[in-house]
Amino acid sequence: MEVVVVVLFLVPSVFSRLTARDYCVLGAGPGGLQIATFLKEAGRDYIVFERNQGPGSFFNSLPRHRKLISINKRFTGRANKEFNFRHDWNSLLSGDERLRFYHYSHDFFPHADDMVRYLQNFSSALNVHYGREIKNVRMKSDPEAWHGQYFVLEDQTGREDLCNVLLVATGLSLANQLRFPGEEYAEGYETISTDPSDFMGQSVLILGRGNSAFETADNILGSTNFIHMIGRSRVRLSWSTHYVGDLRAVNDGLLDTYQLKSLDGLLEGDLSDLALIRDDSGKLHVTHKLYLEKDMNPASNQSNHTMKSASMLLRDDLDNFAAREPYDRVIRCLGWKFDFSIFDKYEIFGSHILK
Ligand SMILES: Cc1cc2nc3c(=O)[nH]c(=O)nc-3n(C[C@H](O)[C@H](O)[C@H](O)COP(=O)(O)OP(=O)(O)OC[C@H]3O[C@@H](n4cnc5c(N)ncnc54)[C@H](O)[C@@H]3O)c2cc1C
Ligand SMILES: *[C@@H]1O[C@H](CO)[C@@H](O)[C@H](O)[C@H]1NC(C)=O
Ligand SMILES: *[C@@H]1O[C@H](CO)[C@@H](O)[C@H](O)[C@H]1NC(C)=O
Ligand SMILES: *[C@@H]1O[C@H](CO)[C@@H](O)[C@H](O)[C@H]1NC(C)=O
Repeated sequence: MEVVVVVLFLVPSVFSRLTARDYCVLGAGPGGLQIATFLKEAGRDYIVFERNQGPGSFFNSLPRHRKLISINKRFTGRANKEFNFRHDWNSLLSGDERLRFYHYSHDFFPHADDMVRYLQNFSSALNVHYGREIKNVRMKSDPEAWHGQYFVLEDQTGREDLCNVLLVATGLSLANQLRFPGEEYAEGYETISTDPSDFMGQSVLILGRGNSAFETADNILGSTNFIHMIGRSRVRLSWSTHYVGDLRAVNDGLLDTYQLKSLDGLLEGDLSDLALIRDDSGKLHVTHKLYLEKDMNPASNQSNHTMKSASMLLRDDLDNFAAREPYDRVIRCLGWKFDFSIFDKYEIFGSHILK
């Protein structure tokens, strides 16, 4: 009996030593897998925690219309590996020639599923633990830790791991939401139907002007009555700005249909001034926040931004054409942001940016 008691007493402290890792990586996307490869090559003790059951889960559903805009440059006519890598937009860095993306797709604009397959093979020799969603990161003082403190990672089951160095590669996982009256009527790029027949005969407003907005428009412009797209600034074409995140030519179909007779339109305006109102028939009307405030009778308490009839809408003096005809749907394509919620707020970066 005594022996059993001693063993039970020792197990927790031995266990916590064993789980103190040198390097912990959060996320098995391209970023986490790349850093894990370098750690492995350097012979370091590391572990990758990934909440999903496989790597590269971002690319399981995104981009929604499945065509990557990172080009698959298979041929350059050169033998210089460094040169060829510089023109290969998709491969991660590795000494293993089999782990070049062009073995996985021959398409110039590859399918996103090919990226997932590629990342599966890329990750197969790495120490990735799946199904571990890190819910909270905090610090714990310990004289044995490299810097006097461990990072304590707590997963969804309450299990904790200690790490000397934490590398966060969780990506930009939260869709940007814009707060405006009637925002609840807008659907998000991340969940919108990708079946063009769901948009037949509909009038659509897209909020945002990046690649996801244009990609969405391209998919449905053969089915809609018209698409209007609204953004704060001029469309920036990547071939003119040299920035790959600006609008890529492969997605720019709506520019054609806007310029050529098709009823589609591009509008400029500050989205933070926007308000959406739904009429009795379910149609969505765009107006300016200011007009909405004037229009709403506080006593009638229309806090959910419905209206009895479209005629109640105060006309903009400028009579912006977008405000004239109602929309069937409004789609939000406003980009992504980092999720800070896992960090214990005061102990890591300082409270001003967290929670
Ligand atoms: C709409 C859209 C289209 C894009 N198209 C392309 C394209 O065509 N080509 C291209 O090269 N790039 C494209 N990108 C950019 C690309 O998605 C990112 O550059 C890339 O995914 C970033 O890799 P990452 O490893 O940093 O993050 P991610 O790929 O987002 O990976 C993060 C990983 O961390 C995991 N994770 C998150 N939080 C936790 C947690 N708390 N615990 C455990 N695991 C967690 C996630 O499950 C995920 O697997 C696109 C981006 C968007 C938004
Ligand atoms: C990816 O890995 C699988 C399983 O190990 C293997 O069968 C396949 O050939 C690999 N793909 C490529 C392109 O190397
Ligand atoms: C106005 O709306 C709020 C929130 O929906 C509700 O709590 C309140 O009772 C309403 N007031 C009136 C006068 O209807
Ligand atoms: C909005 O308010 C109207 C009138 O008060 C009500 O009939 C309707 O159900 C509400 N809609 C939502 C989505 O809450």
